[in-house]
Amino acid sequence: MELTKDQRDMLDGKYGEGAALALKVQVGIGECFDAPRMVPITNSHVALSNQEADLWFAEKMVKLGARTKVPPTVNPGFCLPYFKGRGMVTDEDAEHMRRTHEAYKALGCRLTYNCTPYMDTNIPFPNEIIAFSESSATPYVNSVWGARTNRESAQSALCASITGAVPEYGLLLDENRKGNILVEVKAKMEDNFSYNLLGYMGKKIGPGIPVFVGLGNYVSPEAHRNLGAELNTSGAYGMYHVVGVTPEAPTLEAAFGGKKPERVVVITDDDLARVLETEISDPGGRGIDFALFGCPHTSLNEVSHIARLVKGRHLSVPLWIMTSSLTKSSAEKMGLLDTIRAAGGEIVEDTCSDQPCWHLYKGKVGVTDSPKCAYYPRKRGLEFVIRDLETCIEAALKGEVE
Ligand code: F3S
Repeated sequence: MELTKDQRDMLDGKYGEGAALALKVQVGIGECFDAPRMVPITNSHVALSNQEADLWFAEKMVKLGARTKVPPTVNPGFCLPYFKGRGMVTDEDAEHMRRTHEAYKALGCRLTYNCTPYMDTNIPFPNEIIAFSESSATPYVNSVWGARTNRESAQSALCASITGAVPEYGLLLDENRKGNILVEVKAKMEDNFSYNLLGYMGKKIGPGIPVFVGLGNYVSPEAHRNLGAELNTSGAYGMYHVVGVTPEAPTLEAAFGGKKPERVVVITDDDLARVLETEISDPGGRGIDFALFGCPHTSLNEVSHIARLVKGRHLSVPLWIMTSSLTKSSAEKMGLLDTIRAAGGEIVEDTCSDQPCWHLYKGKVGVTDSPKCAYYPRKRGLEFVIRDLETCIEAALKGEVE
């Protein structure tokens, strides 16, 4: 790779050992992809996970004196004061979260603890070169906002935040942003939940950049969020196009860059029903112990909707909504938090479903509307029946799911 004098100085340690290591990692990645050079970024998001390897790398960077030149927003861990204050995490887990907080604070990150920054706190411009990690975030910023990022890992996005640059390859280049798979959606896409199921069709869609047709001319922010999150739970996708909706796909021809699709995939109602029953949901028709929403983080619209559904009623099982502190604070000002708490539910900020704070539900059965919400906690021994949001809320009110 051709580096500028300043970048060579960085590699040689002029800006400290941390910056030198970060750039070394990125040059290694760039060489793997034949990137000719590094290009500056103006925005980033780090999918902090509060897990061993994540903390090891962040603390290593702190010890080496690194500081972020482009301060990133960060993913959630768990809300330490909330879960520690209620004795819901072990001292060891609490200490781990405290160290994660301190490490990312020392690196100068924006401690938003939210996995949907593209909805409010970190919205890039079209064509802006950025470094975003997180499964729903990368496709959203590429596809919906028309910004340019590769599928960064938490660590490579942190390195980019430290050096202020990324290797130029992949989705940063015009020619790699064209679709190659035509996805004809014949299923009825009635609500945001349908997009969770459509996203989970990654195995059928196969690798590449899907171009969706048949979704109408409006796809809600939550539907885009769900589509990207689940495409990256069932597969690996950096971007997609929706013809007539996303900015780089005003027409089918533009979406494919004038080329013919390499393959055509048709998605029907039967496909969505089959994936729900055979791949993502544990069996229904039984009692449940809890309801969990917000993987990816719940939007303010969804919090309002849940509040309307539970208003004046009493939940039979605990209902948890994970969201950003910004959304929680707005919900509080709007009286939604009071309504949800009066029904027996709770909104927790800064918290992810894949965290030790949910250990209390090990061996228990929950409901959620998100396949991704079930995917990771299942590895921790939690079971999930997946249904649309309204069915989940009814289940939480009754204590059983159909
Ligand atoms: Fe967000 Fe954690 Fe789910 S980062 S998407 S709540 S696994």
